[in-house]
Parts: sequence; structure tokens; C-alpha cells
Amino acid sequence: MAIIGSGNIGTDLMIKILRSDGPLCAAAMVGIDPDSDGLARAQHMGVPITAGGVDGLLGMPHFDEIKLVFDATSASAHHVNWAKLEPTGVRMLDLTPASVGPYCVPVVNLDEHLDAPNLNMVTCGGQATVPIVSAVSQVGIVTYAEIVSSIASKSAGPGTRANIDDFIETTSAALLSVGGARRGKAVMILNPADPPILMRNTVYCLVEGDADHDAIEGSVVEMVDQVNSYVPGYRLKQRVQFDTFTADNPLYIPETGKFTGTRVTVMLEVTGAGHYLPAYAGNLDIMTSAAKAAAERIAIHLAENIGAPR
Ligand SMILES: NC(=O)c1ccc[n+]([C@@H]2O[C@H](COP(=O)([O-])OP(=O)(O)OC[C@H]3O[C@@H](n4cnc5c(N)ncnc54)[C@H](O)[C@@H]3O)[C@@H](O)[C@H]2O)c1
Repeated sequence: MAIIGSGNIGTDLMIKILRSDGPLCAAAMVGIDPDSDGLARAQHMGVPITAGGVDGLLGMPHFDEIKLVFDATSASAHHVNWAKLEPTGVRMLDLTPASVGPYCVPVVNLDEHLDAPNLNMVTCGGQATVPIVSAVSQVGIVTYAEIVSSIASKSAGPGTRANIDDFIETTSAALLSVGGARRGKAVMILNPADPPILMRNTVYCLVEGDADHDAIEGSVVEMVDQVNSYVPGYRLKQRVQFDTFTADNPLYIPETGKFTGTRVTVMLEVTGAGHYLPAYAGNLDIMTSAAKAAAERIAIHLAENIGAPR
């Protein structure tokens, strides 16, 4: 496999893959800045590099052996990269919010997309919160889901900063199409605090009618355990909270009027493994761990069909 984009996300992903004994083999790190720290680290760690972008990757002598490419550049660069790579038949896991392929949140819907040529890994906020919305949706009708992701400003590279609007749109869309909510909104905060703070996520779900609080809490706790199995620093910050709104005490929502039912509030924290940036950057881990978990499944799936991937 190859990684395009030698910034925060690409470098963290490379280190994770090199440190794991899974089926993936790091065959190339691709950048456009020959002086980038990510390319220097890749070279130091024995991974073939090119600073020639996607054209440099296509020109590498062993390109034909590469079956999977991760894109960790930016949403706009992804469109260009995919236009050049799609004709080669290589599989793409897109870590930018470009939304070219179907949204993939491994614990929720990876099985549906094992053969997708281009799989979009949503966003860091989406990987942290869509599973929770899905867990609540399994118990009741989520009429509205709102998520707030707060990440340390230091962990957001220029690629992330260029993609804030795409983050909002892609995450909001995934809350509906993958999480199962009827309406959704995503909010992102780049927190400039120094020392940097851990990634935090708050999920609000409005559940229609009489909601079974115990069943919702059980479903959320089970989902947190499943995500935690591939992102060890992912955990509930406190117990799931419930607020009930009755006909006598409705919640007024400007767009839709009076709501009666339950507001479920879930607070999450993600501590990073410190592979590239320090532990505050759980936002790198939640994305790169999800992409790695998806790629490992896909690699096994590909190997069963066409031979072992590189
Ligand atoms: N940082 C996060 O927390 C985070 C989490 C999830 C997803 N993302 C997404 O991942 C992407 C990268 O974010 P980042 O924080 O790592 O940004 P970054 O700026 O640190 O890294 C992007 C890298 O891609 C390289 N690049 C740009 N265009 C390229 C091209 N055409 N070909 C090859 N390399 C190219 C840049 O030189 C840079 O090294 C963004 O789309 C962002 O939205 C970021």
C-alpha cells in the first residue's frame, strides 16, 4: 500500500502501519514537499518515497504491486489524485472529506463496502461520533443529531484547515446516511489552548417519543467498546445523560418547532497513541486507526480474491 500526503495524518498512519504486524506493507510515502518531516521520517524508516505527488507514485518501479492507496492530502487534491489513479484499478481509502466514495465508519458499515473502489473515511469527528448516533438509532428514532468536535489547533495541519467547510458538510451527511439520524449538524472547534487539549466530542441525539433509557445507554456503551477495540484511547468521558421533554415542557427548536421526547447527551474523549504527535492529538488516531482497520479488512478480502496485497 501507499500513502499520499506526508503531513500529520499521513505520517501518523505510516507509523501505525509500520508498527503493526497486520497484512499491510508500506510500499511508498508520497508528498510534494521534499523537505517535509513526513518524507524524511519515511526514508529513515525504510519506506520508498517520492516528492513528485501522484505522478511520482505512478512512476515508481513497483507501482503495479501496490493494491491500496491512502489519500491524506486535502479534499481538492484528492479529486486530482483519484482522477489519475482510478484508471489503474488501485483501491483508494480517502482520509480527506472529499466525499467521492461512499462513507465508511468501520464499526457501522464496512461490510457493505468491501468492494468499493474509493471509500471515504468521513472525518475525525465523524469517526468519533457517527457510531454513537448509530447506536442510539438502533434503539429509537433519532430526529436530530448534533455533534461538536474539539481538536487541538496544533494537530490541524494546513490540509485540515483548508477543509473545515468540507468537514462540516461531510460529517453532517454521514450522521444521516451512516448514523441513521433524520437531520444532523456538525460543529468543529480548533482549540488554541496551550498546552494543547485532548480531542473531545459531544453527541446530542433527539429521540422521538418514549425512549428506553437503559437500552440506549447499553447500546452506546457497547458501541464505545467496539470503537475502543481499534482506537484504544477512545472512551466515554462520563455516563450517558438523558433529558426528557413532555407536552408540558417541550424543547423548542427554531427550524422544526416543539419537540417532545428524550435528548441523549454523550461525551467522549480520545487520547492519542502518540505515534506522531503527542497524546492530545486523538483526532489523528481516530482517523488513522479507522482507516487502518478498514484497510486490513479490505486487504484480507482482496487477498482472498486476487492474491496478497502490498
Ligand atoms: N489533522 C486531523 O485531525 C485530521 C483528521 C482526520 C482527517 N483529516 C484530513 O486529512 C487531510 C490532511 O490533514 P493534515 O492535518 O494531515 O494536513 P497536513 O497539511 O499536515 O498534511 C497534508 C499533506 O499533504 C501534502 N500534499 C498536499 N497536496 C498534495 C498532493 N497533491 N500530492 C501529495 N501530497 C500533497 C502536503 O504537503 C502535506 O504534507 C485533510 O483533508 C484533513 O481534513 C485531518
